[in-house]
Amino acid sequence: MSDQAKTPAPTPATKKLFIKTYGCQMNVYDSQRMAEAMGAEGYVLTEDQSDADMVLLNTCHIREKAAEKLYSDLGRLKPLKAEKPDLKIGVAGCVAQAEGEEIIRRMPLVDLVVGPQTYHRLPAMVRGEAPAIITDFPEEDKFDHLPQRRATRRAPAAFLTVQEGCDKFCAFCVVPYTRGAEVSRPVDRILREARDLVERGVREITLLGQNVNGWHGEGPSTQGQGGEWGFGRLIRALGEIEGLDRIRYTTSHPNDMADDLITAHRDVPQLMPYLHLPVQSGSDRILKAMNRKHTADQYLRLIDRIREARPDIMLTSDFIVGFPGESDQDHADTLRLIEQVNFGTAFSFKYSPRPGTPAYEKPEVDSAVADARLQELQALLSRQQKAAQIGMVGRSLGVLFEKPGREAGQMVGKSDYLHSVFVEAPDAQIGDLVQVRIVESAPNSLRGELIG
Ligand code: 5AD
Ligand code: SF4
Repeated sequence: MSDQAKTPAPTPATKKLFIKTYGCQMNVYDSQRMAEAMGAEGYVLTEDQSDADMVLLNTCHIREKAAEKLYSDLGRLKPLKAEKPDLKIGVAGCVAQAEGEEIIRRMPLVDLVVGPQTYHRLPAMVRGEAPAIITDFPEEDKFDHLPQRRATRRAPAAFLTVQEGCDKFCAFCVVPYTRGAEVSRPVDRILREARDLVERGVREITLLGQNVNGWHGEGPSTQGQGGEWGFGRLIRALGEIEGLDRIRYTTSHPNDMADDLITAHRDVPQLMPYLHLPVQSGSDRILKAMNRKHTADQYLRLIDRIREARPDIMLTSDFIVGFPGESDQDHADTLRLIEQVNFGTAFSFKYSPRPGTPAYEKPEVDSAVADARLQELQALLSRQQKAAQIGMVGRSLGVLFEKPGREAGQMVGKSDYLHSVFVEAPDAQIGDLVQVRIVESAPNSLRGELIG
């Protein structure tokens, strides 16, 4: 029997839960789901750690020093625990998965350790009805055991996890070990969760997965749409949900950009003209050593096909500099690829050796050399980012209002391209999707004027 089935009705006594989220959007989503699960136990979220009855650190393990950062954050909780001995401290996420019981051994103030695949058991753990450390990869799907997302009105943009884990085994990456093998959530659950979000006021959904475009599933046989669905087909089905105005997805692998997904960018108007497609390097030698299984040229040709389907699409990417064996020529190849694609924005990281990954013990590039390359690459990317933002001036774009702006009568929201846009709109509400003309580009935002 599941822990969830044993959950008693919500208790009136309110306790306070503080969650600190590190890392990616998947962790942001997981933190929301953990908050909902704990809500059924009578916990409400607080922004004030010192006021909390429970502190949960939802950790990330992607780059170095993640564990050290966790231990120093835990160290800083010692005075609070001394003052409030009943305070519960939990560690969730990928460091919990990787370190397991070592966390409680080093930091006995920690009460619970729960991995990313087992957090549906958190309520039972808190009640003392399940072990204090759970980091296995269960056969069951945690989403089947989590409470329905709460019947409250939600912010207009939401995340929805459709796929987890990764089978790609890039030589530098811990995800296949911390998040496990690729698992796709079933079509009906995804569509149900999406409809439910829309009923609660959500107008934009970002589909999440470590390798989201590797999602696949069995179509609903009842409507004669059975058979194997790829990610493009899922997006088309989501595009039929009345009231869902914007669809995004992240993060994708170039080798899983199927034809049906590329043409979805042409055919589904709700699918935003924005694609995060990490390439990591522009050197064939390094791409091979990274086990990316494609060349720079294949990536460039893929970009051409995507731009043919959706000419106004903005591309973003991730880069790693200083991967073991990277030469000046390899770095120059990466800069050339960046010039050829012209990205709207990108994340770039200095290579960080992760224990347990194939690249871990390879000789490292000199740290100062890697720093200099990172600076050069970031300078180029930030020139492209600036140009892309300035290029928005004069264009007419959709903006989904998310909160009031700094000045009276002002609203701020995200454009189709995820830029923050400030708009003078005294009669508008949060959740309105409006058409604006971009009139000005500031360092980190745009200013727009309502059209019509
Ligand atoms: N070192 C540096 N960057 C990394 N990433 C993943 N693993 C590492 C690592 N060991 C980056 C990749 C990935 C992003 C989420 O984090 O660029 O796309
Ligand atoms: Fe990690 Fe992404 Fe490579 Fe998977 S595809 S191993 S998540 S970098």
